[in-house]
Amino acid sequence: MCGIVGYIGTEQAAPILLEGLTRLEYRGYDSAGMAVFDPQAGLQVVKASGRLQALRDMTDNGAKVVGTSGVGHTRWATHGIPNDINSHPQVSPSGRIAVVHNGIIENYTKLKEFLKEQGMPFTSDTDTEVIAHLLEYYYEGDLLEAVGKLLRRIEGAYALGIVCADAPDQLIAVRKDSPLILGYGNGFQMMASDVTAVIPYTREVCYLNDGEVAVLTRDSMKVYDSLLRPVEKTTAHVDWEISAAEKGGYEHFMFKEIMEQPKAIRDTISPRIRDGKVVLDDLTITKEQLENLDKLYIIACGSSYHVGVAAKYILERLVRIPVEVTLASEFRYSSPLVTDRTMALVISQSGETIDTLAAMREARRLGARLLSIVNVVGSTIARESDDVIYTWAGPEIAVATTKAYSTQLAVMYLIALHFAELLGRVTEEEYARLVAELQSLPAKAEEILKHTKEIQYYASIYFNHDSIFFIGRNIDYAVGLEGSLKLKEISYIHSEAYAAGELKHGTISLIEDGTLVVALASWNELFEKLMSNVKEVKARGADVIGVATEAHKAQLEELVDSALTIPDIDPMFLPSLEVIPLQLLAYYVALMRGCDIDKPRNLAKSVTVE
Ligand code: F6R
Repeated sequence: MCGIVGYIGTEQAAPILLEGLTRLEYRGYDSAGMAVFDPQAGLQVVKASGRLQALRDMTDNGAKVVGTSGVGHTRWATHGIPNDINSHPQVSPSGRIAVVHNGIIENYTKLKEFLKEQGMPFTSDTDTEVIAHLLEYYYEGDLLEAVGKLLRRIEGAYALGIVCADAPDQLIAVRKDSPLILGYGNGFQMMASDVTAVIPYTREVCYLNDGEVAVLTRDSMKVYDSLLRPVEKTTAHVDWEISAAEKGGYEHFMFKEIMEQPKAIRDTISPRIRDGKVVLDDLTITKEQLENLDKLYIIACGSSYHVGVAAKYILERLVRIPVEVTLASEFRYSSPLVTDRTMALVISQSGETIDTLAAMREARRLGARLLSIVNVVGSTIARESDDVIYTWAGPEIAVATTKAYSTQLAVMYLIALHFAELLGRVTEEEYARLVAELQSLPAKAEEILKHTKEIQYYASIYFNHDSIFFIGRNIDYAVGLEGSLKLKEISYIHSEAYAAGELKHGTISLIEDGTLVVALASWNELFEKLMSNVKEVKARGADVIGVATEAHKAQLEELVDSALTIPDIDPMFLPSLEVIPLQLLAYYVALMRGCDIDKPRNLAKSVTVE
């Protein structure tokens, strides 16, 4: 959600800013712009609504914009429609100061009134314009000092990139509750919303903390706290390859990431299973602390929340501790029953989702211990947790998550096995059997991925449906939630997931001739019950795609219109296998409907506003 890139160095800045913005495109945006300091002409601002290509066309891929320092932005509209005027950078009345912003300034209305009273005109509907104007209001020749004063006035979430025509040899970066990292180079410095934008140029990065301000010059990077006292920062080395964030011959990132899942699961679990035992070096919680817990609270949004729904079944079965799964956006407003005997399990691919961050801070305030499962190293959620277990999925670029979801599940299995063993809730034989089953997961996922053509064929039959239901029981229901979300977010087909037993309590009235129902029947114990639900919807005219394990192949084929099977595995690990055909179904349906698969409309990869 919104991307920021800043560069100050000796090369022409605009092509570098455009390249960085291209790498941040996946975050989601609807307009783009940049401000570059031209030594002859002063601050040059170019911006355009729509795709980045518009900005490329206007500037001849950046060649027309002269200057070696500047900031660029992709905007995901919050305040004001996505048009040229509302695009960032926003500039101060004199045109001297330009600002790019990711986040929301909550008190902007009051500030706007105040600035209008001072005679400052406004042209946009954005909250960001008040930042540019306030900076000008406070600016008396020292930009850093003006930023310090600004920080005392604005409330909300913000990552800012600031350029000032009077101080052309510096850029200022500010962060609070929205991501921003710094990249250290030789003779140049950068800032960006995430590391993907800087790794073609440098792998030495630094993560800004909340309230910190950085002053970037060509040769130095100085960081201050919000009171402008100098802060010592350490750098981190990014060791993944650039190719990990490129399509590598695939038509879409989403397809590439679906295909990468066996490797991502293997990378996440293998180093953590040694001599048949789950070893979570990253976890500091002791057996005594674990014994003291009376509740696990899972906090997450979207697909990460769906991992939580599946994890509840897994953890309660194996660890025998009550688990409550809650949407992060609801947590703070639900009087959560959290004590110092609660552990909050926080799940987030990006590690920056603002709702999740806010909920986990509230959980901490109420006394909970925080264990997070995060993909992006050094992200805020990871840094603010007591313990973090990283999913080693590599960079996920497609907006619709696939391999991050799968690796989050994989970490959940590891946690469940580890906790169950520590608490003595599982026999040695059962533990050994489950660890072996877990280790078989990547190969079984590979097996499913050999059948993409079959799923493509089913997609070609059903892609014109305009309403699709996913039904399942227990863990199949949890997977249905994810299958339904995948489908609707990238194909724009209306879809809902239901606990199959609930159908007859209302939803079945929506089933009519030709309605498509995806029946998830992989949990062998409940296969027959699910088949009864299939008969009910078929009797009312539904077309049914069924998913079950190999064990029920023949029965499934008899009952449904299109049957998909997955390898047999302990039910605990089913979600990881069952989700793959559903991801592929969503992918092919979206492809056949001509949708923008990697960047679905209105969505952002990293949701940094509430
Ligand atoms: C859907 C999807 C989203 C995210 C959600 C949480 O494909 O990716 O639903 O799961 O926005 O994001 P993270 O996991 O980054 O906190």
